[in-house]
Amino acid sequence: MILPIVAYGDTVLKKVSTTIDAGYPEIKKLISDMYETMYEAHGVGLAAPQIGKNIRLFITDGSPIESLKDAGFKKVFINPEIIEESGQEWVYNEGCLSIPDIREDVMRLPQLKIKYLDENFEEHTETYDGVAARIIQHEYDHLEGILFIDHLSALKKQLLKGKLSNISRGKTDAEYRMKFPLANKR
Ligand code: NI
Repeated sequence: MILPIVAYGDTVLKKVSTTIDAGYPEIKKLISDMYETMYEAHGVGLAAPQIGKNIRLFITDGSPIESLKDAGFKKVFINPEIIEESGQEWVYNEGCLSIPDIREDVMRLPQLKIKYLDENFEEHTETYDGVAARIIQHEYDHLEGILFIDHLSALKKQLLKGKLSNISRGKTDAEYRMKFPLANKR
């Protein structure tokens, strides 16, 4: 089932999400719905707050990105914990399904170590670098109520204000189902 993706301006995107346990109702169905939703929107990552749930869960599939095509970066991350980040900051042009039509350069560290549970609630500790690490950092931020635009300078954010306000009101060309917090307000 394709779920509507919550647009910028909704408070669900600004909250710190809570951990879940294996008893969480219909988790397998939720994960499969999130995959369907992400593929429909041509995304490479989707976090639970983006479909309106403040729980610590995100999914990835980097296969549309050339460098990740064969890497098998299709993963479910539950209750993830970034243990360390390292290396020299690098720039990557990020976008977000909740903030259509906006892409900006964001600086982050290139390597990370992460501990998480998979869809069967089995624990893993793994290291990632490059674009895979970047996707994880972006999605992990969503669980902390942080958006990629929060990493931009105050000036840059100011310049995006009008565009962001339009997104909240539903004025966007996004070709996937969305939920807009201010759709009927002026
Ligand atoms: Ni995002």
